Amino acid sequence: MSADTWKQQAAERAIALVEDGMTVGLGTGSTAAKFVDLLGKRVKEGLSVRCVPTSEATRVQAEKLGIPLITLDTQPFLDLTVDGADELDGNLRLIKGGGGALLREKIVATASGRMVVIADHSKRVAKLGKFPLPVEVVQFGLGATRGMIEVLASDAGCEGELTLRTGANGQPVLTDSGNFILDCAFGQIEDPEALDEALRLIPGVVENGLFLGIADAAFIGGPSGIETLERDDGDASE
Ligand code: A5P
Repeated sequence: MSADTWKQQAAERAIALVEDGMTVGLGTGSTAAKFVDLLGKRVKEGLSVRCVPTSEATRVQAEKLGIPLITLDTQPFLDLTVDGADELDGNLRLIKGGGGALLREKIVATASGRMVVIADHSKRVAKLGKFPLPVEVVQFGLGATRGMIEVLASDAGCEGELTLRTGANGQPVLTDSGNFILDCAFGQIEDPEALDEALRLIPGVVENGLFLGIADAAFIGGPSGIETLERDDGDASE
């Protein structure tokens, strides 16, 4: 079996959580896209849901499938968000933003009563940080912001190369909100909470890809089936 199959199995497990009448946040990335496809089928069969996409790419996909879309302006709180992750640890701490949608993903997930992560087992790590941490920054003052990230991340125990994300044309990638992304190759992040706190102090940082205390559960597909992680009184348990 392949990663694609495991992603599909995780998405199938998550679709079972969607009930008639729910408001649902739709994640971004190849795993979340499988969930959106499954949801589109359920909608065609008569399921009534109203959804908020976390990116323009997901919005286009959902529109094609006929999934009714709303915004957080008219519906500030959602029942459920289902999204992928670039990494997750045993405490349901995540790195997200490989697809560049971290800001909207965090806004939507935080506005949801429940956030469920779907992933294949390659995303499950003992410690976060092998995947470079995406940090969304405003274009103005990029050099200053980069320098501050280096200094404050170092104070939080994290050092490594910061790379401005570029596209196939060699130009900086712009997020859906018109910002840049710095991919920060810190290696293992010993204290994600300290790093998150440090990054929040920097004016040019819009958001970072650490999702801490946000995910409530995860379905992780792999060769031995689906591993489920559940938050229990603020902590994740397996
Ligand atoms: C998008 O910005 C990311 O947060 C994705 O959720 C993450 O990159 C996972 O994507 P895949 O499901 O494609 O691995």
